[in-house]
Amino acid sequence: MSNTPTKMWSGRFREPLDRTFEQWQRSFPFDWRLIPQEVAASKAHAHAIAAAGILTPDELTKMLAGLDAVAQRPLNWAHRISATSSIPDYETSNPQIAAAIVASAPQAEDIHHYVELELTKEVGTLALKLHTGRSRNEQIATDMRLFVRDAIDATLAGLRDWLLALIGLAEASEEAVMPGYTHLQRAEPVLIAHWLLAYVSMLERDYSRFTDARTRMNFCPLGSGAIAGATLALDRTIAAKALAFTAPTPNSMDATSDRDFMLDFAQAAATLGLHISRFAEELTLYATAEFGFVDLPEAFSTGSSAMPQKKNPDLTELARGKSARLLGAATALATLIKGLPLAYNKDLQEGQEQIFDIADTVAGLLSVLPNFTRALTFRSEKMTTSAETGYLNAMAAATYLSNKGVAFRKAHEIVGNAVRLGLDKGLELNQLPLAELQTLSPEFTEDFFAAIDLRSTLNCHDVIGGTATHRVADALTAAKTRVAHLISSVSSEDQVVA
Ligand code: ARG
Repeated sequence: MSNTPTKMWSGRFREPLDRTFEQWQRSFPFDWRLIPQEVAASKAHAHAIAAAGILTPDELTKMLAGLDAVAQRPLNWAHRISATSSIPDYETSNPQIAAAIVASAPQAEDIHHYVELELTKEVGTLALKLHTGRSRNEQIATDMRLFVRDAIDATLAGLRDWLLALIGLAEASEEAVMPGYTHLQRAEPVLIAHWLLAYVSMLERDYSRFTDARTRMNFCPLGSGAIAGATLALDRTIAAKALAFTAPTPNSMDATSDRDFMLDFAQAAATLGLHISRFAEELTLYATAEFGFVDLPEAFSTGSSAMPQKKNPDLTELARGKSARLLGAATALATLIKGLPLAYNKDLQEGQEQIFDIADTVAGLLSVLPNFTRALTFRSEKMTTSAETGYLNAMAAATYLSNKGVAFRKAHEIVGNAVRLGLDKGLELNQLPLAELQTLSPEFTEDFFAAIDLRSTLNCHDVIGGTATHRVADALTAAKTRVAHLISSVSSEDQVVA
């Protein structure tokens, strides 16, 4: 064996690896994306082993500078390739950058090996001391936590932006009305703002799912060793603090094999994806000629190469499609973890690509949805007409009778008969002559017509969470306050860190 082994573990081996297997089992072709996380975790570990007396202060300084130089490399590649000075999160999946980095290090088995090899180029054999008191098992667990933590922060920022866009659109829609649907059949009129605030509620819950996941996962595996804990009396709080984790993880076997932090993120993303797909589906429908509620913004639509008249809702269709990817990735991760014996197993390497794909997919979705939302315009006349036809005021009519003392079940029956009458005559409820209505119930009087006009139909839903105009105005104010609070709590956290 030569002095510089090509593997991190070659000592006990006498036979070379099968070349195809060797290539196939590598993770560097995808885990190169963890360079920033691996370097940050390595710097934190360097501080911890220096405190334990393994590195002199001079060696520590050299080691940290060397690691910074290694972290700079992907930026250099990106710069060379795309002429940008930094890699935006979303662009790290740029295949050209990936190919260049991977080709630059043909020996590297995985991200841990890569950083060690590159660090050796920077600081010589001192690099080989860095692995004292640590294992790749705790490193990958740490890197992935750091990656997921960043992905959550990026997702939260995207969600805040989309929430602002939805609230802005709700505010701009003022008191405009649309038909609300159940079973995709016209049900009752609602304010457009009320409908949009339904998505605000969904996204707020998504937001809290990501926030919860972040809090739960924010513990540092470093010092857990391969399975049983570091073989060096490390002060684990040093690395935990350096990486802004709440504390060290409490159990080394769990810390090196737990991936439910990834699952939490994946499942929160899958749920967000489901919400996105509902929004996308509604917009796709509302943009059809049949509904005609929405003018698709040209900037976010595409044409047909065959049919000159077409303006296609590709954004919402793709968004609906991307949710399948998110759900698939969450399912793949859950399946991966199921039945794995403690502690680390190489199967876990398979989870990384799912997480990268989720992070990219969510980042992509949230890069287009806020501005798409801002660009939406409603055909409110068409929406109002649809809300005024098809007996959407039948519930309000039954409520009118029940307010007059008629039992609701009876009132329901009477109004059902009135609807039947209207259907036969081709008239809406408010077009039926009072005399005819009175043959169904003597309780119908002249005030009936005002009680079932569009505004009254909306305003009879005067409860918290209802679509009565003033309730929606209150709900909008409350949503604005909550989102402003989300935004200010992030900027005050930034101040604490700064
Ligand atoms: N590339 C590996 C992974 O992603 C790193 C951990 C390797 N550990 C090991 N004992 N082989 O899981």
